[in-house]
Amino acid sequence: MTDNLYVDPNALPPLDSFSRRSRDESVLFTTPTHFSVDYEINPYMVSGVDSSTANQQWHDLVSRYEDLADVSIMDVDAVWDDLSEVEVAPPGELPDITFCSNHALSLPDRDGFLLAQMATEERHDEPAYFKQWCTNRDIPTEQLRTDVPFEGCGDARWHPGRRLLWGGYGPRTDLEAYREIADRYDVGVVPLELTDDSYYHLDVCFSAIDEQTAVVCPDAFTDAGREKLDTLFETLIEVSPEAAQDHFACNCHSLSGDVVVIEESNHQTIHALESHGYETLHVSTDEFMKAGGSVACMAFPY
Ligand code: ARG
Repeated sequence: MTDNLYVDPNALPPLDSFSRRSRDESVLFTTPTHFSVDYEINPYMVSGVDSSTANQQWHDLVSRYEDLADVSIMDVDAVWDDLSEVEVAPPGELPDITFCSNHALSLPDRDGFLLAQMATEERHDEPAYFKQWCTNRDIPTEQLRTDVPFEGCGDARWHPGRRLLWGGYGPRTDLEAYREIADRYDVGVVPLELTDDSYYHLDVCFSAIDEQTAVVCPDAFTDAGREKLDTLFETLIEVSPEAAQDHFACNCHSLSGDVVVIEESNHQTIHALESHGYETLHVSTDEFMKAGGSVACMAFPY
């Protein structure tokens, strides 16, 4: 495996080749009832979450989405009741479970999900909740055959409208996971190496806005990675390391290709998005930023 494009840049899957993922119209949220910062698995984590503010921020986020998308909510306590047969930690011991984008990736050609395999012991049991939620709804789930970490949409993002997966690897997801995904689902994967723990997930430094446009923090990528981004997107809206790290600018989420949901303190990125013609919707996520997450970590596109 090399750090090259798996897909020949001269023979890219065309735009409009992936109607299943042209827009994020269905979004899952997972309740933040037990959200707190109890350990440190990324450089942003600081204790001192105000639970009632966090709850309020999550509810506001969900209600903003309800106007624009088909929203589902996974109630972790209800799912826990169904899980009682299986040996899984209770939701009170999984303070990061509200970051549900990390639990799976939607399959390219049919309904269902490829489940995550978390890199850290602290979060190991979280995908079992998502799996149970799917089972309760007859939604199929699949497991990687390779026993390596893979943190779902935290690191793997479909290119809107193009049958292509962007795959961040290094701090969490292992590159081997993408070899399996490429072979097993016959999709092009563009691996992007993340060398700095400040960018522990791809969604901390990259957000595909639509077929042609992405918000990126160039600082996060190697020269090879930056070249791939330049080749495959017509427009890159670049953000500074400060914006990416202090305000989670790249953790914004474009849900329809027209409206971008973004943490409200990102004044420059909001301005840049609007001057490119996108509508922006501003939400407050600072309690969740204390755990290293913002919009895209909580809004799981499926
Ligand atoms: N504390 C969590 C972790 O380190 C935050 C996850 C945020 N999710 C994301 N997609 N970046 O895993």
